[in-house]
Amino acid sequence: MNFIKKQEEYIKKVLLENNYDVESVGLIPSSRPDLGEYQFNGMMALAKKNKENPIASANKIADILKTNEEYESVSVAGPGFINITFQNNALLNEANRLLSNDNLVTKEPSKKIIIDYGGPNVAKILHVGHLRSANIGEALKRLARKLGHEVIGDIHLGDYGLQMGLVMLEIQTRYPNLSCFQNDFEGNEVLDLPITNDDLIDIYPIASGKSKNDQEFLEKAREITYLFQNNHKGYKALWRSIMNISLADMKEIYQKLNIEFDLWNGESDAETFIPEMLEYLRKENAIIPSEGAEVIEVKEENDKLEIPPLLIIKTNKTVSYQTTDLATLWDRAHNMNPDEVWYVADKRQELHFTQIFRAAHKTKIVKENTKLEFIGFGTMNGLDGRPFKTRDGGVMSLRNLINEVEKVTDTKIIPSIMGEERKKVSETISVGTLKFADLLSHRATDYIFDLEKFSDANGKTGPFILYSTVRMRSLLKKAEEEKIQYNFVELKDKTDKTVILQVLQLQKVLEKSLQEKSLHEITDFLYNLNNCYNNFYGMNRILTEENENLKQTWIALTKLVYEINLLILDILAIKVPTRM
Ligand code: ARG
Repeated sequence: MNFIKKQEEYIKKVLLENNYDVESVGLIPSSRPDLGEYQFNGMMALAKKNKENPIASANKIADILKTNEEYESVSVAGPGFINITFQNNALLNEANRLLSNDNLVTKEPSKKIIIDYGGPNVAKILHVGHLRSANIGEALKRLARKLGHEVIGDIHLGDYGLQMGLVMLEIQTRYPNLSCFQNDFEGNEVLDLPITNDDLIDIYPIASGKSKNDQEFLEKAREITYLFQNNHKGYKALWRSIMNISLADMKEIYQKLNIEFDLWNGESDAETFIPEMLEYLRKENAIIPSEGAEVIEVKEENDKLEIPPLLIIKTNKTVSYQTTDLATLWDRAHNMNPDEVWYVADKRQELHFTQIFRAAHKTKIVKENTKLEFIGFGTMNGLDGRPFKTRDGGVMSLRNLINEVEKVTDTKIIPSIMGEERKKVSETISVGTLKFADLLSHRATDYIFDLEKFSDANGKTGPFILYSTVRMRSLLKKAEEEKIQYNFVELKDKTDKTVILQVLQLQKVLEKSLQEKSLHEITDFLYNLNNCYNNFYGMNRILTEENENLKQTWIALTKLVYEINLLILDILAIKVPTRM
């Protein structure tokens, strides 16, 4: 068992034996390192419950804890804080345990989780909001897996709504002679369209602009949307061909970002399930007519805000973003039987998900004990505090953003790295810079993307962590060349001990991060750990140390921190460059 958890269990046992009615004990790094390394702050409340003097109770418990051989000292401070300093040997044993096979992370009882993240829209620009969803979702998926869960990641493409009708109409206007627009079109193939992905991305805003000023254009686009949703051969073929172009582009960019989806399903895949879902909902009388449309009521008595009904069939007979999301849940519940489904999307979509979750539970499409969770994130803003824009005021594409970061990164890489390697290194560091920065704050807070700050190798940044990792790797390589054994045998002083004390928090940090569905605890921990290690590194000469015991311990310490860096960077889906 993880060392800190073991101590918590032990203290809990001592408390129970002394008639303190305690549910769980939290041992945290001391806020006063001069008094002890870890502290237990629960004694005051427990004493109060038993109507005792807290200092006296704390002293009584401290006296018992003092008999523990793993503790060097136990003391009471202030109104009843219990401070503990660990024996070096206890820490050395734990460090050795962590370093041996696969012990870094203790797994939780496994749940089956589906994560819906990424959510890019076909034929529309992939923007920084989509980076956030993909980045946060990918990291949560990997974190949950490391902690023992079975996780399925689904991209849930936006590929079914009016935007598709608009794009198709604009293409039809430009290329009316394409085979798919002819009345006798019967094909099932993917068409060879005279357009690229860049064209598609230009087409959408033009078509969307037209639809705002031209009612006829809008009506026509709606009709096309209806037709393609109802298996019109020509529009289905066109849609497939657009998907083909768009997906190729998306795959390239997600690969660059180390983001891997298990399922490439989209809103359109819900189509198969819509008829059976509608039949079920009608049978259950869950759908009601409303002003020419059909809806599901989801408001509840205690709502403070008005929660509007779910729009299932629009007046123009097309289905909505809500219908496809509900039908996707139908599919997930019936065919995958998850314990939990998580949705990583912009926090401004919260109402949509409240509606979906309520409808799914109320209609029993999803079992009562299947947990549906909305994981909302804030906006990445530019230096002016407003949503990121290009210089000419357009929406910043993800690709452009990566290019901007690469320009800055390239100036900071050492000159001896050249040619192809330089390109690769620059891309790896840039992606790391972007992703680390994006996971630095609590996911729900808006943040300002300050490129200078986020690419500073001396700050709390991706480059700082990567640099530190690369340096450890080369130190370990030298140690290996010199055939130095590594093992935790002896500690010198606070410089090396503090690093182990930091390491002890790993398990808790991972668990807390998963609980909160936010990665900021992890990026914080990684930064503190590396800071601590760098401090130790600056104070000692590892490879030339004459005391063999210390030298072995320090290589082991380097190895342990390096392994933790790799573990966490893997969770964050950040790669380490060959050099930098
Ligand atoms: N495509 C949507 C957007 O760009 C995000 C999808 C979120 N996931 C979902 N199941 N609705 O806003």
